[in-house]
Amino acid sequence: MTALGDLDRDRIRELHDTELAWFRAERPRTLELLARAAAHMPNGTPMTWMASDNDLPVYVDHGTGASFTDVDGHSYVDFNASDIAMFCGHAHPAIVRAVQERVTRSTQFLLPTEESVRVAEELARRYPRQTHWQFTLSASQANTETIRLARAATGRDVVLLFEGHYHGHFEEGLVDLDDGRAAPVQRGLSKGVTGRVRISQFNDAEGLRAALGSDDVALVLTEPALTNNIHFLPPEPGWHDELRRVTRERGTVLAFDETHTHIVGEGGATGLWGLDPDVVTIGKAVAGGIPMGAYGVSVALAGELDHTKDVATGGTLFGNPLSAAAAVAALTEVLVPAAYEHTTALGGMLADGIDAALRDAGLPWTSYRFGPRAGQWYGPHPRTGADAHAMTDPELTRLLRIWMANRGIWEALPGAGPTVPVPAGEADVDRYLTAYTQLLVALTS
Ligand SMILES: Cc1ncc(COP(=O)(O)O)c(C=O)c1O
Repeated sequence: MTALGDLDRDRIRELHDTELAWFRAERPRTLELLARAAAHMPNGTPMTWMASDNDLPVYVDHGTGASFTDVDGHSYVDFNASDIAMFCGHAHPAIVRAVQERVTRSTQFLLPTEESVRVAEELARRYPRQTHWQFTLSASQANTETIRLARAATGRDVVLLFEGHYHGHFEEGLVDLDDGRAAPVQRGLSKGVTGRVRISQFNDAEGLRAALGSDDVALVLTEPALTNNIHFLPPEPGWHDELRRVTRERGTVLAFDETHTHIVGEGGATGLWGLDPDVVTIGKAVAGGIPMGAYGVSVALAGELDHTKDVATGGTLFGNPLSAAAAVAALTEVLVPAAYEHTTALGGMLADGIDAALRDAGLPWTSYRFGPRAGQWYGPHPRTGADAHAMTDPELTRLLRIWMANRGIWEALPGAGPTVPVPAGEADVDRYLTAYTQLLVALTS
């Protein structure tokens, strides 16, 4: 039996084509806009991902709460939540109010405003070891600056990442294993980038020791649990202790990217598991969907960021008051303990329902749960990124996404699992599970 069980590949393709034809037929206005847009935007979209991740990128009109509505009038419960950036929901009144209030008093001066102090104080409360914070416009940029900081602090060049990682669209972040060798995962990167990156396996302590042994690694950058490209890979017992011990022994900076995992609680997975990184990076939902990234460092590293030391950080719109005002609202009015409890309970309900559907369908897949997020691997529980990579199935994922869209659910990106956004309720989870269960029946009957 393959990891996918005995699924009929022709049936997957046939179902996909039928669903896509139905989807297209009901969206004439989207098709019209895509055709018009193609004259001035490659793929008919303002960014390639909107096309590469979707069989048919719907043009959207508006969003409210847990849902958004396309230009043809179809609504979707948003379980992608823009890959977690919209975890607070669409047009949340607290975010709208904060942005409206700030924008009338202007949005950048290249000078500090009080909102940024409030954000830094709140993030330092959530991540007590990270006493000092800097702001960017995205998590990618927060990770880029973390790499520069670690290089400046250690005088070393190499960045260590784990197979299956994703930390953003910067050079080092786009290197991963291909047939066991580090290689750029996309075109357009500099040829020398692979020499500046080392890839190990998450949960493999021996491999980690070997990779750090030559004392040339400036930074280990990882999510506390891997949540990208490979659905979900949790840490095994003892892994984080070992990671901390070895990085400290070898003089390597340890950074946790909480961009996705911060949705599990006030202090993200770092707080949940009592972890002790040198740097925490964050973005996406931290400002309720307004562009912002941030990184917090320990006191020792904060000294390296003194402007007289001239580490290559900064950007003209970084640290702007609009993003900060949105972040104050997101962190103090939306992402409060009750919101984490609510979404974690619904995430559990989602995972239970996925479990039940898999059992009833007799499929040898396994589910996972992580706070507000759930999902399935197309096979047994993986240990490493390599195991998880072996189970990806683009055809099946494309079918899942278009099937769900036809039933009013915007499914997570390929390689990710559905996430319950803050404004969602039990009825939204029920709707997801009904559509998901119907798909498994269609696949196996
Ligand atoms: C863990 C993690 N870090 C960083 C990023 C980059 O975020 P952005 O594209 O907003 O810069 C992502 C995006 O998916 C992510 O999942």
